[in-house]
Amino acid sequence: MSELSPLLTKAVRVRETGGPEVLKVEEIAVPAPKPGEALIRQTAIGLNYIDTYFRSGLYKTELPFVPGSEGAGVVEALGEGVTGLAVGDRVAYAGGPLGAYAERRVIPADRLVKVPDGVSDDVAAAIMLKGLTAHYLLFKTFPVRAGTVILFHAAAGGVGSIAGQWAHRLGAVTIGTVGSAAKVDAARRNGYAYVIDTSREDFVARINEITDGRGVDVAYDSIGRDTFPATLDTLRPRGMWVTFGQSSGALPPIDSQILSQKGSLFMTRPTLFHYIADRRELEEAAAALFEAVGSGLVEIAVDTYPLDHAADAHRDLQARRTTGSVVLKP
Ligand SMILES: NC(=O)c1ccc[n+]([C@@H]2O[C@H](COP(=O)([O-])OP(=O)(O)OC[C@H]3O[C@@H](n4cnc5c(N)ncnc54)[C@H](OP(=O)(O)O)[C@@H]3O)[C@@H](O)[C@H]2O)c1
Repeated sequence: MSELSPLLTKAVRVRETGGPEVLKVEEIAVPAPKPGEALIRQTAIGLNYIDTYFRSGLYKTELPFVPGSEGAGVVEALGEGVTGLAVGDRVAYAGGPLGAYAERRVIPADRLVKVPDGVSDDVAAAIMLKGLTAHYLLFKTFPVRAGTVILFHAAAGGVGSIAGQWAHRLGAVTIGTVGSAAKVDAARRNGYAYVIDTSREDFVARINEITDGRGVDVAYDSIGRDTFPATLDTLRPRGMWVTFGQSSGALPPIDSQILSQKGSLFMTRPTLFHYIADRRELEEAAAALFEAVGSGLVEIAVDTYPLDHAADAHRDLQARRTTGSVVLKP
């Protein structure tokens, strides 16, 4: 590629942080892949709640930037020294440098995994970040087994829809919450045996009833501010509180005494990127996920928006209007 004719691509760029309106469609130059990198043409881009944290400025990054941490497509060129990949391979990724909201992008090749034939690009882009998150939450953060009683907030959402089906298949007793009556059926289809509509019911009282006062073994909470500290009251003594997101806003500073007062609880604040930083762990988790989805164990509902309408997708995600996974189409 000569310097005079850089490859241009359509991308959504943020020049200043703020509301969804700061997501602007632009043409930007794509650099040639450096050693260890791959140039990919993306056919599907995953929408994630974390994209809204970067867009709003809650999470910091240098301006201007192209948001996005999840996508799928085809390898178009490889930098020097890349092994195990060829031009034309179908690939997908979660994490790595931001920059998914674009038709073409360059990415470290060791973040890419090959997508098996039985999994479409849209599904791959819908599951890499959310499905690998469901995987580590259920298999690594807390080993969910037959009979484990779990609470999962946002049971009709992207991560919640995958986690519920998978936990159900593992034989767990699944309790999910949703924020409106309209999402109850979706959560049921996602494998939640008990679905609590928090717009009508007090989830702590209801879980107390469901578990005969025992409490859940593990509570997965991605809602943050609005479900704290009530979620701690759903746990059995020595249960685990997994606070892994903040869809309703950041948590206040936490006094560790609260864990003792609520029953010698365990707390973790995990992030996917620490569970897949190691290439071997990434490959194992992706293989398990593709197997679960390819075999139909976990079914994926995908809603699509044109990449040009990324701002609408952000509005809908933050207004709690989406269910399942959303994919942006370049
Ligand atoms: N730590 C990690 O490794 C990791 C990885 C992936 C995702 N996450 C986190 O997991 C969460 C889910 O991500 P996702 O992309 O799958 O999103 P999502 O669950 O599809 O969307 C968020 C859901 O949160 C619920 N919610 C409750 N209060 C809300 C409020 N005040 N504003 C907006 N939503 C509210 C809504 O469901 P109801 O209307 O049913 O309540 C909404 O649909 C996010 O917090 C994300 O940051 C963390």
